[in-house]
Formats: sequence, C-alpha cells, structure tokens
Amino acid sequence: MMMPKLILGVNIDHIATLRQARRGRMPDPLEAALIAEESGADLITIHLREDRRHIQDHDVYRIKESIRVPLNLEMAVCDEIIQIALHIKPYKVTLVPERREEVTTEGGLNVAKMIQSLRPICKQFAEAGIVVSLFIEPDLRQIQASVAVGAPCIEIHTGAYSNSSGDDQDLELDRIQEAVTLATSLGLRVHAGHGLTRENVRSIVAISGIEELNIGHSIISDAVLLGLSSAIKGMREAIAL
Ligand code: PXP
Repeated sequence: MMMPKLILGVNIDHIATLRQARRGRMPDPLEAALIAEESGADLITIHLREDRRHIQDHDVYRIKESIRVPLNLEMAVCDEIIQIALHIKPYKVTLVPERREEVTTEGGLNVAKMIQSLRPICKQFAEAGIVVSLFIEPDLRQIQASVAVGAPCIEIHTGAYSNSSGDDQDLELDRIQEAVTLATSLGLRVHAGHGLTRENVRSIVAISGIEELNIGHSIISDAVLLGLSSAIKGMREAIAL
C-alpha cells in the first residue's frame, strides 16, 4: 500500500530574524519562500508575532500573493492578528501561545482553559474558509479540549521530545504516540513540530497518523552552514582584480 506523503511545512521566520538584525532588506523572506517552494516545501509557515520581531506585516501579504503552495500563518490568539489573518485568508492558521519574553514558542496552548474564548474564534475562521490548527502539548486533556472547541487540526509541540535524550526521549515519544492515537480516533488531523532536526525527525516520521511537520530553525541553520562556502566563493569572485 502506498503511504500518503508527509507534508513538509518550511518555517522561514529566521530568514526574517537575520534581516531584522540590520532592519534592512536582506535576506528577503519572500525569496526564501520561493526557494523553499521550488525545493520541495509543501507549505510555507510564518509566524506574525505581536512584537513583530521577525516577520513583518508586509512579508505576510507579499508571501501570500506570490507563493503557489498553501500558507500556514502561526499566530497568537489576539484581536489585532486575528483581523489581519481574516483579511489575508491564509490556507491555515496555527494558534500558538505567545509571550514577549520568550525566545521561541515555549509551550503549547492551554486549550482546556480557553474553551469559551476559542470556540467562537474557531467558528469565525471556519466560516472564513480558513483551517484552524491548535499548537498543543501531547496531553490528552488538551486534545479533548481541542475537539470541544471545534478545531479540525492540532499541531503537537515536539519541543520536549527534541530537547530530551535517552530514556526521557523515549518517554516523550510515547506521549506523542499516545496523543496522536487519541487525536486521530477523535477525528482530528494531526501535525507536529518544534525543534525537529535531520537527526531526531525519523522517530516522529515513524508515528502513523501525523500528516504534516513544520520545521524551521534546523533547516535555516543547515542552510547557513551549507551555503557559507559558496557565498564566500561568490565574494572572492566579486572582489577579483
Ligand atoms: N510549529 C510551531 C507552531 C512553531 O511555533 C514553530 C516555531 O516557530 C515551529 C513549528 C518550528 O519550530 P522550529 O523552528 O524549532 O523547527
């Protein structure tokens, strides 16, 4: 039997992080999105944070207009960003928790504590034709709550798995496996991401029921090192007398 292909969402936030270090124009996240698309990304993922630390509003509009693959917009549950998302109409929004002092999305959304507020938001996105995914820990209570708010998808936070090793990592993998089994049995579509690398991704791929992975930091890190040699050679040529 042919296995369905795992969808690869490439998160390009850190291209924008590098650009924002100089607040200039390069590297351009749109160019990165087009390269990602050409190189096999099935989905482009970007996170428009409330503090705009990397992706800017104009990036979201330009990327949405220019890419052919679907756009996955990660966002906090906040009115301002919800309005932007409803205007841009990405294929999917992934709702994440957001704290200004964090360096990255450090935990999952506490859906169980947000049932009343999330229900109308999920409905609003569904009515706008936008798929909603909730970024949650592999926690059975959060999965049941995700069903209760009417979300069609969840994305399982793989950070604890990625940051652990040995027996602890096996335990984290078991938690993810259990979470995927429950979620799929309840009719949720399951995605996963955070901290995945070429080294640790295989065990996640082996879990049946996960349809999509969203990977950013390790891909951009690899790109920097794999591309450094040709960048230096390019400059060598540019300064040749
Ligand atoms: N999925 C979600 C919901 C995220 O917030 C992030 C980080 O932006 C990722 C996936 C990708 O994580 P990483 O950059 O560690 O691959």
